[in-house]
Amino acid sequence: MTTNIVLLPGDGIGPEVTAVAQAVLETVGNQFSLNLSIEAHDLGGVAVDRHGTPLPKDTAAACKRADAVFLGAVGGPKWANTPVELRPEQGLLGLRAALGVFANLRPVKVHAALTDLSPLRPERLAGVDLLVVRELTGGIYFGAKEEGNERAFDACEYTRQEVERVTRVACQLASERRGRLVSVDKANVLATSRLWRNSVSQVCREEFPNIELEHLLVDAAAMHLLSRPADFDVVLTENMFGDILTDEASMLAGSLGLLPSASLAGTNGAGLYEPIHGSAPDIAGKDVANPIGAVLSVAMMLRHSLSAPDAASAIEHAVIATLESGSRTRDLIDPSESSLGTEAFGRVIVERLLSGP
Ligand code: IPM
Ligand code: MG
Repeated sequence: MTTNIVLLPGDGIGPEVTAVAQAVLETVGNQFSLNLSIEAHDLGGVAVDRHGTPLPKDTAAACKRADAVFLGAVGGPKWANTPVELRPEQGLLGLRAALGVFANLRPVKVHAALTDLSPLRPERLAGVDLLVVRELTGGIYFGAKEEGNERAFDACEYTRQEVERVTRVACQLASERRGRLVSVDKANVLATSRLWRNSVSQVCREEFPNIELEHLLVDAAAMHLLSRPADFDVVLTENMFGDILTDEASMLAGSLGLLPSASLAGTNGAGLYEPIHGSAPDIAGKDVANPIGAVLSVAMMLRHSLSAPDAASAIEHAVIATLESGSRTRDLIDPSESSLGTEAFGRVIVERLLSGP
């Protein structure tokens, strides 16, 4: 049986990190006899330029057929002033909706070799290993909108069912980890947050009585993520809060370039995998982007969509070994020290994989 993978290199540094992700995927594909069929499609700004839409029909259809989709990044200043339906980001949001991937998993670990990168003191970072589960297909991102010169609005809407299904994913994952769930909302102000809190509590109480649940208001959560990051296990939150808190949490690891993500319609099955960094237009085409977030996203793909946990672990070990051997991309060291480019760093990871554990 063939496993179909769609690659969406996208914009900015997307194609550069996707090339490394593809090399890693092909390497483990051979090593673990995975029989992968890999095809690339256009999404985002590149699709606007070539096809006049950020999410071409062919791309959407190929992604829906695929066992897993890998996305580099979308967006850039070139499309900043185009009408909203022609913005690269609309391609990504449309794809998330089309695939129904309502649960976005963003793990944050601090690598021992990189603790001095974070703006936090090393003693605060000891033991940080958290997973943000961000609701991805609802809330203010997808509510009714109106945009005028004098007045505009974005409505935030959630249904109980939308909250329940993502809560089940978070609880399931928490039960496979340390059994602790922090749900983040703004229930002192927002109606959607009160529904959120109520629904999360009910699912936990009735279906996952062994999960230890804590509710935090989003402003407090933003602070606690910095003051006591090691206390968090699974953090569950709605779409917009998750977007913001995961960029904040990435600074625990030291660089936005390190973090992977998986977007799923459950805890496994077909999914969309992307590094959480954006298209970084300022460094695009310069061979300096950090491919680790992309490579670790491939590992998540192998684990959640391709039932290949051994291949996933092999990749994670190869990344750790590469860092431990002292190899660094530019974002991971002082400007005075020497670094490897995206491609060369990718080659080191592939060589590590080929030389075995
Ligand atoms: C992310 C990104 C996207 C989001 C943008 C590109 C639409 O910031 O995946 O975190 O806001 O979801
Ligand atoms: Mg974001």
